[in-house]
Amino acid sequence: MANTHCPQVIGVASGKGGVGKTTVAVNLAVALSMAGKRVALLDADMGLANAQIALGSRSPFNVSHLLAGEKTLREIMVRTEDGVILIPGASGRRDMAGISEAQVNTIIHSFDEMADELDFLIVDVAAGISPSVMSFLSACHRRYIVLRDEPSSIADAYGTIKVMTSELGLDEVYLIPNMVSSQANGWQLYKRMNEVCTRFLSRSVNYLTSVEADELIFAALRKYKPVLSFAQGSSGARDFRRMAELSIELEPATHAHGQTQFFFQRLLDAEQGA
Ligand SMILES: Nc1ncnc2c1ncn2[C@@H]1O[C@H](COP(=O)(O)OP(=O)(O)OP(=O)(O)O)[C@@H](O)[C@H]1O
Ligand SMILES: [Mg+2]
Repeated sequence: MANTHCPQVIGVASGKGGVGKTTVAVNLAVALSMAGKRVALLDADMGLANAQIALGSRSPFNVSHLLAGEKTLREIMVRTEDGVILIPGASGRRDMAGISEAQVNTIIHSFDEMADELDFLIVDVAAGISPSVMSFLSACHRRYIVLRDEPSSIADAYGTIKVMTSELGLDEVYLIPNMVSSQANGWQLYKRMNEVCTRFLSRSVNYLTSVEADELIFAALRKYKPVLSFAQGSSGARDFRRMAELSIELEPATHAHGQTQFFFQRLLDAEQGA
């Protein structure tokens, strides 16, 4: 059994910037950790990495040192106060914003030796639909698309879903309506989006849960803390706990798409052992 364990890898994307990817990635990671899971968070937004700010963690090394061959994955990662293992992105390094396919593969393969030590890996990708964003998303088992109820966010989320599904053939896409006024409004936004995807892409997308607008989420960031430890009783903390519960309940991903995958060998072993 031990050698067929495969960590579940969730990519968090949005298309448009500033809609809440890092907030979702960080708080989902913390909520999973609080639920007793072993969790790592890869900050794969190489141009403007800010997951470490949101987690209040400082680290001397980051992914650029890994890619330069100066440090190993274990040497750059840090364990945060909330028990999450953070792999810091190459913040402020503009040359890292457009990393190559080979570099993406190097990062992905560096995780292979950690398969036994993790239950979840959360990947916070950059805004947009660049080739490196799509390479990271293709390598994940599931994709959570964060969107807000506003035209530009909806249009960019649709664009991201279109590339992922129609062009790359990816499935396991879940929408996360963020900053909505109620769970019911989030569900309505999902339904509208799913109708458009079904009509124009002939693909449906899945719903997980929504995150309501909560000023304590913003206040937590100003204190360099995830909302789950800053204000446990807040609606934000409640929504992220629910997101973690639902993520744990999902069937483990058991197949790969044939491209470079996180923990690819583990997936193959799991399939053969099944
Ligand atoms: N549900 C919410 N309620 C209130 N504020 C929120 C919520 N979600 C995110 N925010 C705030 O919105 C801002 C942008 O969030 P975040 O940095 O997570 O977006 P992002 O998509 O990662 O941005 P970027 O594309 O720059 O990486 C932050 O100030 C964050 O605190
Ligand atoms: Mg971000």
